[in-house]
Order: sequence, then structure tokens, then C-alpha cells
Amino acid sequence: MPNTIVVGLQWGDEGKAKILDDLVQEAKQANDKKIWVVRFQGGPNAGHTNYILMPDGRLVKFVSHAAPIGVTSNSEIGIGPNVAFDPEKFIKEVEEARKLFGYNAGIHISERTGILFDYHRKLDAWQESLRTGNLKIGTTVSGIGPFYMDNANRATRITFAEYVSDNFHDTLAKVLEQKSHELVAARIPGLVTGKYLDTLIATHDPIRKELKECACELEYILREALEKGENIILEGAQGSMLDIDMGTKPTQTSSHLLATDPLAGLGLPRSAFRIYGVEKLYPTRVGEGVMPTLAEDNFGIETQKNAGEVGASTGRDRRVGYPDWVIIKYTAMLNDIDGIYLTRVDNVQDRDIKVCTAYEVNGKRTERVPSKLETATPIYSDKIYSWHLWDGPADLSKPEEVDKALHDKRADYVKEGSGSLPKSLKEYIIDHENYIKKPIIGMSIGPARGEIVKL
Ligand code: IMO
Ligand code: MG
Repeated sequence: MPNTIVVGLQWGDEGKAKILDDLVQEAKQANDKKIWVVRFQGGPNAGHTNYILMPDGRLVKFVSHAAPIGVTSNSEIGIGPNVAFDPEKFIKEVEEARKLFGYNAGIHISERTGILFDYHRKLDAWQESLRTGNLKIGTTVSGIGPFYMDNANRATRITFAEYVSDNFHDTLAKVLEQKSHELVAARIPGLVTGKYLDTLIATHDPIRKELKECACELEYILREALEKGENIILEGAQGSMLDIDMGTKPTQTSSHLLATDPLAGLGLPRSAFRIYGVEKLYPTRVGEGVMPTLAEDNFGIETQKNAGEVGASTGRDRRVGYPDWVIIKYTAMLNDIDGIYLTRVDNVQDRDIKVCTAYEVNGKRTERVPSKLETATPIYSDKIYSWHLWDGPADLSKPEEVDKALHDKRADYVKEGSGSLPKSLKEYIIDHENYIKKPIIGMSIGPARGEIVKL
């Protein structure tokens, strides 16, 4: 069982949670050593959805924003130094996992991790309200931009070590003072009278007490785990096209998302890891920003509806596009990908699928992603793919409702393997591999644990 890093290859919501969970299950089967699932960047802007089949046969939806998906499988969980750590959300999600799945494994939070507070959310909303025209980002309003600004500003970063220390009240008061101009401009209620500080303290004191013993030197702990041959799974959030440097300005997020980033932050060697990219069969985007293959036709409208493409963090509809292999080739390169998991192939059955294999940029054909993505017009290959997996409901937007009807059909494909897949889907996989030059190693044909055809 290799250690793995999992990243999204598009604009987020690729189905990373499901793949991460599958890797945990694989590790459980491979050996009985500890499994670590560690978030390495981003914060509660992530919406990681997992469907877990409970012992009583019910399919339960679990969405995590702040807690690594390992809470659904009783894995050791870790929070890396580059995460925007939201203790309020984290503690709620861990509590829910305790109730639902009996979660009781170890929680390891780097002393260096920065804390995301309520004022980051309020500043996020305020900054977004000031943006007009093509400067609008459509953030998740979870405080990400202001958090990373504070981090880069250094003196306004409150680390997890400071958060759980006895000096926290004093540290927080000083930071609020440093940020006072900005906070006053955002009209935070109670700020001037000092009530706001009291409210923050009242919210965080019980959480601090509960999480105090989770503070650790994560880089040493993970190195020891590596030396003991334990299973380390690094959980990426968002997708490479939202990376602070490689995404489209200004509609990207504020953290570094690429797979090589956590290796630096956590002091881990590339040679000990396999890097897996998750690609949803069709890309989606939520919030502002360009997506070259945006499908405003039936394919886009129906897929959005039937696949339930709605943001897990914000409830906004996600915009759907046709498969864009130019993007995948690019992000596979940026992440130094070893293999790809393709998700949601069941959600597009019976549709005509065309694939973008080049762009026209300034009148010239190219297979590269330009830094100004809005200058790219997609060029589609002549081939149309269409596959039929099973007779059944077209609307898969509520997995809990169709699970019973489709469970066995999905299980058959998993059991029979890739050879049993429809011809057009097999061709899609071969053409994809020839173009991207990286193997597809698994393909999800349903939302629940285990519904992955291994290739
Ligand atoms: P997961 O982990 C999809 C998008 C927002 C917005 C932009 C900036 O579920 O794949 P931010 O709140 O980060 O400042 O917003 O990035 N965005 C995501 N889109 N999935 C995500 O995470 C996202 N996290 C942020 O919609 O366009
Ligand atoms: Mg998501």
C-alpha cells in the first residue's frame, strides 16, 4: 500500500472524498497498520461529500468542510500548517462523525496551523460586496481570502499553538487591534465596545479546551509514521485550476493546491508517495470565472439537474462543461500525477459527449492552457461518445433515493471489472489515456463506498 496524495484536476468538486475514502478502505485491506488522513491546504471552502452505507442498510450522506474525510473511517486525522483551520466547523463535524460512525481515533493538528475566525468570514463578505464587474470572485464566504492575507501578513496570523495557549485572549485582542481599521470598515457589530472580543472568546474557549491536546509537531509525527510503514493519505481540497498561482485571476482560491506543496509543508519525500488526480467526467465550476467548455445546452442543463450539481458549501448551482482534456493534461503535468480516477461516469449515461482536445488562442490551435484562459475557444474532436450502463432512473440527484434500485447493477460492474463496461466507455478510456499519457486507474460508477471499477 503506497502513501498517496489526492488532488482535484479541475475546478473542485471532482469527487475527491469518495476516492480518499476508497484509498482508506484499500489500506485497511492491505495491512493492519495505522492510517493517517491529513488535510494540507484550504479550509471550510471545501465541501467533501461522502455516502456511507450504514449497518442497517441506509445510505447516509456526510459532508465535511473542515475535518479530513478520515472521520468516516475511524482513521487518524491530521491538519497541516497551510490549512485555514476553522475550529467551530471542525468540532461540529467531528461530533457528528462520533455519533454516526463512532469516530474515536487520534486528532493531530500542527502547532503551526493558522486559525480562521468569524471576522475572516465577515471580511470575506465585505470584500466581495466591494468587488464589481470582472473583479467579482463569488467566494464561498467562508473567510478564505482574508485568512490567507492574515497568514501572509505574519503578525496577524494566530497559530494553533497560540490558540490553545493560556495567552490566547491577549493574543486575540492584539490581533483585533492591529486589524481595527479594516474591521471597523467592515462594520462588525460590537467591535467598538469590545463585545465582539468577548463573543469570540466565549465561542472559542470551550473548543480550545477540547482541542488542546491535539496540538503537535505534525512534521515529526508523520515522519515517524512513514518510517514505521504506516499508511499516509494526504487530502487535497479544491481543484488545481483554482490554485492561487495557476488558476484564473481573480476567481481562484487563496491557497496552494498542487500535490507537491504538502511535501514541503509536512517535510515528506516525493519518492514515498503516489500522486492521484481526481477528474470528474465533466468539469463544473461554482462561483465566477471562465470555463472554456461551458455547456449551456441540454447536456449542461440536464447534467446539472440529474447529477445534483449543487455546491456542498454554498448551495449554488454548479455550471457544467463538456470534458476538457486540455485542462486535464495541464493539471496532470502540474501535479506530477501517477494515475487518474475518473468519477461520475454513471451520471452521463445515454448522453452525447464531445471532448475538447485543443484550444484556439489568438487564431492559432494549441494544446496548452494559456494564462489568460478567457482567450481560449474550445476545439472538439469529431468523435461523440455515448454509453448505456443500465435501465433505471435518469435523475440521480438524490443518491439515497435511487440506491436500492441501482445498488446491484453497480455492484455487478465492480465485480466484473473494466471488461464488462460498454464499448463507447472503453473507447473513451483508451482515447483519454492516449491523449493525457497517464493511466486511468479507477472509475466511479456510483456515489457509495466500493462503487469504483478498478482498471
Ligand atoms: P472542494 O474541496 C469548488 C471556489 C469558489 C470561488 C473560488 C474562491 O469541495 O472541491 P474561496 O471561498 O476559496 O475564496 O472562493 O473558489 N471554490 C470551490 N469550488 N469546490 C471547492 O472545494 C471550492 N473551494 C473554493 O466557488 O469561485
Ligand atoms: Mg466539494
